[in-house]
Amino acid sequence: MKVKVSIVGGSGYAGGELLRLLLDHPQVEISQVTSESYTGRYVHSRHPNLRKRTLLKFSSLSTLEPCDLLFLALPHGEAMKRIEQFVQIAPRIIDLSADFRLRQASDYHKWYGHEHTAPEWLPKFVYGLPEVYREEIARANYVSGVGCNATVTNLALWPLFCANMVDRQRGVIVEVKAGSSEGGASPGPSSHHPDRSHAIRSFAPTRHRHTAEVIQVLGQGKETIPVHMSVTAIELVRGALATAHVFLREELHRQGLQLRDIWKVYRQTYQEEPFIRLVRERQGVYRYPEPEILAGSNYADIGFDYDPETGRIVAIAAIDNLMKGAAGSAVQCMNIMYGWPETMGLEFPGLHPI
Ligand SMILES: NC(=O)c1ccc[n+]([C@@H]2O[C@H](COP(=O)([O-])OP(=O)(O)OC[C@H]3O[C@@H](n4cnc5c(N)ncnc54)[C@H](OP(=O)(O)O)[C@@H]3O)[C@@H](O)[C@H]2O)c1
Repeated sequence: MKVKVSIVGGSGYAGGELLRLLLDHPQVEISQVTSESYTGRYVHSRHPNLRKRTLLKFSSLSTLEPCDLLFLALPHGEAMKRIEQFVQIAPRIIDLSADFRLRQASDYHKWYGHEHTAPEWLPKFVYGLPEVYREEIARANYVSGVGCNATVTNLALWPLFCANMVDRQRGVIVEVKAGSSEGGASPGPSSHHPDRSHAIRSFAPTRHRHTAEVIQVLGQGKETIPVHMSVTAIELVRGALATAHVFLREELHRQGLQLRDIWKVYRQTYQEEPFIRLVRERQGVYRYPEPEILAGSNYADIGFDYDPETGRIVAIAAIDNLMKGAAGSAVQCMNIMYGWPETMGLEFPGLHPI
């Protein structure tokens, strides 16, 4: 029997991407897709790529019926307001917002500028990054989605921190270049086409909210790694590219660590990962990860370089923010929660050229 799922906030970009993936998922039946502004209209009126793929119509949140799994794709702050209502509707929840990503309630005040209104729910959610928390996700009923800029940074750096190669006191400096769909479907002054098109705009040079998730993952709750993140808006709709700088531990630098040693660490960490591809070619055009070719795919491409003189490692990662950075990761988590093959419904490799 198929698992009955509903999507809350289905008219948005992340919700639309969930819908696209779940319509083709062999183990899933979509029960309801909510939107307050499109209630009663066909989902393809908002997501034209789904025309002739489904006759589902948007429902209002107030008519949500019991189902097996709820995906929440609401703006930040909405899931925490309604969590008691949502858990009455479904025994399993995957929330794509930031509402249940951070373990410490005080971090919401620090990074989001407000108090968490349902802090008792924070320990019940598992952070939905399969490459780091797969076992916890498999046992969880409540999974939080991931921040896209955090995911692309965490996946770039995780092997180096796991292998204890990094000078933790010097920490991480990371620049993330981000496509416009990260901002969601609601238009604002900065997304108006004449003002956004062709822009390369420093969006959050300091204190980007996703920094908190990188500190949480790399420090594993045991230490506070200094993480300095800057985010720049670039001319892409989908995609995020992280360029992260870290320094080798002095001892390893003195020992004369080689590039092949770094290869080994990345390979060992990620060789079994279905959605991680190592990208570092000596020649050709595509020598390092690029987000463009990942549009619509759940892959994260990871590369690196090493400067033996200074001991600096540059870790580079690319994802589609709406896929590995949101809906794709959420479906991957669902597959893990139900014990299905992790790649089910997520096989699309992306397009080239695009
Ligand atoms: N965009 C990304 O790259 C990305 C990546 C990772 C995570 N996320 C997270 O995923 C969530 C959704 O992001 P998005 O980019 O899809 O945003 P979005 O395009 O703005 O969509 C938001 C959805 O929520 C609904 N909504 C808005 N206000 C609501 C309210 N007060 N009550 C009920 N429904 C409401 C909207 O539809 P109606 O107004 O029609 O109801 C829409 O369906 C966010 O929390 C975001 O942080 C996004």
